Amino acid sequence: MKEKIGAIKLELDKDLETIKTTQDIVDIKAKYIGKNGCITELTKNMKDLSPEERKEAGMLSNEIKNYATSKILGKEEEINNAILNEKLSKEAIDITLPGTEIVNGAPSILEKVIEDFEEVFMSMGYDVVDGPELEEDRYNFELLGLPKGHPARDAQDTFYVKGDELLLRSHTSPVQARVMTSKEGKEPVRIICPGKAYRRDDDDATHSHQFTQIEGLIVDKDIKLSDLKGTVTVICKKLFGEDTVTRFRPSYYQFTEPSVEMDISCFNCKGKGCNICKNSGWITIGGAGVVHYDVLKGCGYDPEKWSGFAFGFGAERCAMLKYGISDIRTFYNVDLRETSSFDRKEEN
Ligand code: PHE
Repeated sequence: MKEKIGAIKLELDKDLETIKTTQDIVDIKAKYIGKNGCITELTKNMKDLSPEERKEAGMLSNEIKNYATSKILGKEEEINNAILNEKLSKEAIDITLPGTEIVNGAPSILEKVIEDFEEVFMSMGYDVVDGPELEEDRYNFELLGLPKGHPARDAQDTFYVKGDELLLRSHTSPVQARVMTSKEGKEPVRIICPGKAYRRDDDDATHSHQFTQIEGLIVDKDIKLSDLKGTVTVICKKLFGEDTVTRFRPSYYQFTEPSVEMDISCFNCKGKGCNICKNSGWITIGGAGVVHYDVLKGCGYDPEKWSGFAFGFGAERCAMLKYGISDIRTFYNVDLRETSSFDRKEEN
């Protein structure tokens, strides 16, 4: 028995020196201390021994069993640690390496211009409201003095969605009609509504079938054209610089009377003439006018008591001028290189 145990111990020590993998651990456990392992086998044959011999054999086999178990478990821990260390060293991150630059997203430049408009108008007591892009003919045309068959409807090449009643709004002016009818001619109105509009234009550098307008409407007592001129002038000075000069040219819209075209002095050349203003010194930024008598009436306001003005700024146009963008498609072909360069321009 003693010799047998001595031989097992020698073999075990030798085996322990060579093992390296977790599979080796499994194998060595099975060989020595598993159910059929050689140390476990030792105890199985003890019933044939005399009581004294059995006692001694029991002691010796327990000894070798404890020895083998602690040695194998020790080795197992050693191997597991080595495997873990190797894994960690392979996955190590060199924190001294320079980082990869993550390109920051930039706010849409169009959105920025809209926010600037909103901020200035809100500071003057205007509410910012929303209106549907899928609009009823009634609001987009009829209540604005453009009944079915009116020739001026052709100028706003419209996307009809369902028959001739539902359309993609061709301007943001239907919001005027919506707001006025909802108030039933009872309260003053002071709103702006930035939003998308759609026309069946062929897209090119200055036209887009989808574009953005910033509509505005004020209805109150004694509102005159001079109020429109004063308001727009203050707004333009705040948005385009204090030295900006405004100009109002006679124009025609069915829903305003009189109607005007709003120009500002070119902020690039200050009126001297350059390629941005096509050498005229002026830049057109939208249309406006005094709310038409019939529009007030049709929307439930008594035109003898109430009056108002309305305007529509072209948001892309304002953004293009402000940021020197020559192609309107820049706003819709999402290209981070373009927007981030505008962002930097803003910082300078
Ligand atoms: N809705 C007009 C357009 O799209 C602009 C406008 C708005 C004119 C408000 C007058 C008053 O061209």
